[in-house]
Amino acid sequence: MKGLTNGGTNEGSDGVLGRPQARIEGRAKVTGTAIYASDRRADGLAHAALVTSTIARGRIRAFDLAAAEAAPDVLGIFTHRDFAGAIAPVPHLMAGGYANSSHRPLGSDRVAYAGQIVALVVGRTPEAAARAAALVRVRYALEPAAATFDDPGAETVRLADLKAHHEDIATGDPDAAWAAAAARVEARYATPIQHHNPIELFTTCCAWDGDRLTVYEPSRFIGAVRHGLAAQLGLDPDKVRVVSGPIGGHFGSKFALSQYTAPVALAARRLGRPVSLVPTRRQCFTIANYRPETRHDIRLCADRDGRFTGLVHAAEVVTSRFDPFAMEGADVTASLYACPAIRTEERAVRVDRNTPGPMRAPPEVPYLFALESAVDEMAAQLGLDPIDLRRRNDTARDPVSGKPFSSRPLMACFDAGAAAFGWARRAPRPGSMREGAWRVGLGCAASVRPVKIAAATLRLRLSADGGAEVACAHHEIGNGITTLLAMGAAEGLGVPVERVRVELGDTALPAAGLSGGSSTTTSLMSALALGCEQLRARLAREATAPGRPLAGRDPAGLRLTGGRLVAADGSGLPLAEAVAGIDGAGVETLAAFVPPGSAPDALEVLRAGHIGLSTGGDALKWAFGAQFAEVHVHAETGEIRVARLTGAFAAGRILNPLTARSQLLGGMIWGLGSALLEETVLDGAAYRNPDLAEYLVPTAMDVDAVEALLVPDPDEAVNPLGVKGLGELGVIGVNAAIANAVHHATGRRIRALPIRIEAML
Ligand code: MOS
Repeated sequence: MKGLTNGGTNEGSDGVLGRPQARIEGRAKVTGTAIYASDRRADGLAHAALVTSTIARGRIRAFDLAAAEAAPDVLGIFTHRDFAGAIAPVPHLMAGGYANSSHRPLGSDRVAYAGQIVALVVGRTPEAAARAAALVRVRYALEPAAATFDDPGAETVRLADLKAHHEDIATGDPDAAWAAAAARVEARYATPIQHHNPIELFTTCCAWDGDRLTVYEPSRFIGAVRHGLAAQLGLDPDKVRVVSGPIGGHFGSKFALSQYTAPVALAARRLGRPVSLVPTRRQCFTIANYRPETRHDIRLCADRDGRFTGLVHAAEVVTSRFDPFAMEGADVTASLYACPAIRTEERAVRVDRNTPGPMRAPPEVPYLFALESAVDEMAAQLGLDPIDLRRRNDTARDPVSGKPFSSRPLMACFDAGAAAFGWARRAPRPGSMREGAWRVGLGCAASVRPVKIAAATLRLRLSADGGAEVACAHHEIGNGITTLLAMGAAEGLGVPVERVRVELGDTALPAAGLSGGSSTTTSLMSALALGCEQLRARLAREATAPGRPLAGRDPAGLRLTGGRLVAADGSGLPLAEAVAGIDGAGVETLAAFVPPGSAPDALEVLRAGHIGLSTGGDALKWAFGAQFAEVHVHAETGEIRVARLTGAFAAGRILNPLTARSQLLGGMIWGLGSALLEETVLDGAAYRNPDLAEYLVPTAMDVDAVEALLVPDPDEAVNPLGVKGLGELGVIGVNAAIANAVHHATGRRIRALPIRIEAML
């Protein structure tokens, strides 16, 4: 078990963690044998199609269903006239409930936003349902809608008034600092609406067996789906099972209880047959969450030496009328650099759109775009190298609370990244580097992300024949947790990786929380370490009992290794024999991990499907990175190409360097999309480009060279495993690094994303 702890070494053949290991489930995914939720077939399976509203606000006056009802192979058409009152309200996940949007489609005649579900058509085939759905006619009474910032009717509220725990930061006197400063940057930065667009759509499939409901749905929080659905439909949660299987991407979507599941479940009950919903790509832009548009007014000032003397970060984020979800992020920008005077003002702007939600690194992607652009502007103003400016403002303590960072390898990331990237060849003056017709720019930015950890339970079994099983209701979202759990169990129990079976994605298994906040590895590997230790201790106790083969040895000194239970003096016994002392077949344990400092009811919160991520403690626990970009901007056409991206990341102990690097590379390429491509455009309060033809996502072909380096970050204080998690670290800061590189290439400072060719002309 020692190998699983931070101080431990990966000894001998049991040293599995820390070595590159290919994904266990990778082959099934790339060969098409993996079964996704919507691949399931059942007897009598019917297919649903959605009708969504064409107005953004108002009432439904009437339906004309005659043509749709007469269409072939239609089994049922459901509207609010069928389901009003049948779906109980459930609050948002962040407000103590389960929902990712508390909007209930088919709950009333109200239209709260464009693209909301107004009818559900069920047919014998997906084609029949879609054909009939297209024949549904709806008449509306239209009311004026607010779409975004500054629209009439948009309601601005302080985050502190919207979210119970939010507090703006006020330390020192930034206005006095501003008046006295040698250098000042004052600017507004803006980031656009973005949609997740995973390849796998937002599907669900509901099947009843008497009064028991089984839901097959790609989700990264099946516990919330189970309990939320039970609350909506008035069912005992024990009668609801949710199975997610593998997940075809989420990027922050597939988040808790979705709006469409209850109506599909009700339709399945009315029709007496299982019903599957596979919405269109276009509908996925409005039936689920998205990253909302944000804007940031930054005032950053410094003394002659470049030391920051004052920072004001006033941010506004869009949200819906009906939920308290709003991304807070100024706490991170306030704590990143040494500064004696800081003020943050965060506001939510409520409009007639669906509730937004997390999208990978929800606050850091927009908020750090603003700060890390402003820092670059400050460097240019002072004539300092941007890395040098950051070094002058590096801090071992949080400037707001005074708490230390558990580790602070930010400048180590900049140094490693700069060396690998070749930062030294950067000519300081903007617009001074050129290759033929292309202007060349080099830019950098920081990536930081607070480390999160959650309670988790899992079942661990070790068989007499040397096999092991790990089972819990967490999810394989594509991050490689299946592989990590197998590696950890192999190391902790002294069996080969190939002999470990990992079962996830089913609420019938021991409870686990949300796959989010980059908390999967910290939480699940902690639970696994606990389980391995429980099994080891139990076997050691039994084997050292009087009359047993290792009687007299210290049970604490026994280890499971190479298929044996071994004492410090080298004596030992085979696994089969050790296990046989308890039960001939195998031994099993339930590990219930609760992060130190959690609320006393953390396990009940977990088992009830509520969210329970914690960050706290006496230190600020962050993962760090430095992003570097080389961009080429064509001098005549303004075309922007990213020639290279280099990232250097410090995320504590790395358990699988192969999947860690892959995840970071993917995040960086996605960050390129955030800088140059991705934007959902409003058309009134509706979306104009809700498809993959016009919503541009990056591919590996959009960057010529991308590299992610792992910087050593031994951190004993972050948690016993020394693991920080890096699921979201790779995307953060890429947008600012690219914008800063564009400025370096052209002298043009672009403060609103995405940066398009027209901004270069
Ligand atoms: Mo992340 S989108 O906070 O899981």
